[in-house]
Amino acid sequence: MNLNILVLPGDGIGTEVTREAVRVLRHVARKWNHTLHLSEGLLGGIAIHRTGTPFPEQTERLALAADATLMGAVGLPEFDNVPPEKRPEKGLLGIRKALGVYANLRPVRTYSALLDASPLKNHLVDGTDMIIVRELTGGIYYGTPRGILEDGGETRAVNTMTYTRAEIERVSRMAFHLARGRRKKVTSVDKSNVLENSQLWRRVVTEVAAEFPDVALDHLLVDNCAMQLVLNPRRFDVVLTENMFGDILSDEGAVLAGSIGMLPSASIGDRKPSGAWVGLYEPVHGSAPDIAGQNKANPLGAIGSVAAMLEYSFGLKEEAGAVNAAMEAVLQSGKVTADLRPSGAPATTEQVGEAVCAAIG
Ligand code: IPM
Ligand code: MG
Repeated sequence: MNLNILVLPGDGIGTEVTREAVRVLRHVARKWNHTLHLSEGLLGGIAIHRTGTPFPEQTERLALAADATLMGAVGLPEFDNVPPEKRPEKGLLGIRKALGVYANLRPVRTYSALLDASPLKNHLVDGTDMIIVRELTGGIYYGTPRGILEDGGETRAVNTMTYTRAEIERVSRMAFHLARGRRKKVTSVDKSNVLENSQLWRRVVTEVAAEFPDVALDHLLVDNCAMQLVLNPRRFDVVLTENMFGDILSDEGAVLAGSIGMLPSASIGDRKPSGAWVGLYEPVHGSAPDIAGQNKANPLGAIGSVAAMLEYSFGLKEEAGAVNAAMEAVLQSGKVTADLRPSGAPATTEQVGEAVCAAIG
């Protein structure tokens, strides 16, 4: 198979973890005889430095031409006080919108080798296996009007949370389809006791659920969901929610598994004429400037994102399974970075990447 992949290492630890993810990708391509065509582009802070904009046109062209995009992380502290329009993060929002990847899939599962790394008691977190489906191209992240305005002597900031029925329907269908391949349960999360947006969300999700009579649906308010995630994480199978709630809940979900460095994500849009899903793959973690350049970031979130890419964009289930199994073997072996190993000598980013390749065989 021809795998045309755009790589966007981005900022901070993004470059280091992406290097290991690409190492694994090359290894898989060699082993299963796939032809890998890699291109590389600029996104985020590095793109601002080199081109003056966080999402250069050249990157957009490369992303639209590729079968799938692998991204590291974006964000640099020097932009902390800059308006949203000029920040590295704007590049990420831009590419999500340009590719139309409206469903962000964030699987949260525990590994037996990592139970002690979780902040929760082992018996609470053991067996957790959920996937958060976050709407990614709508809601308050993109709604207009927005801005900081001077308004009759007062300064006012405005953001707009907006959803159409069609936007809610398509991401809901994705969640119900996923649930069919799992434990057949969708929990939709909203704030319908306060927000009209959430009232429409709940109504449309309930209507879509009628197309999937074999899947159970329940609804949780977002504040309650935040609590249930730590009280009883095993109760969740597929969690379906809008953009900002999903952003917040997925960081909370991430630490259940021990470290945010572990979590992969897949952002999926519609199918291409070839039948492949348009996809953008990235670890859930950020650019972690405090540990950048030190060869100590955990690359497993990025490597897990490669597994997700092989499965969703290319339908290569065997290869994806082999990567996931190799990651699990590496976790068992204890060859892990410092975030997963509070004592003893940790492995470097590079050693973890090499260990995953070795475990694939
Ligand atoms: C994420 C990140 C991004 C988001 C930031 C970097 C814009 O937090 O992917 O969860 O809020 O979507
Ligand atoms: Mg986030």
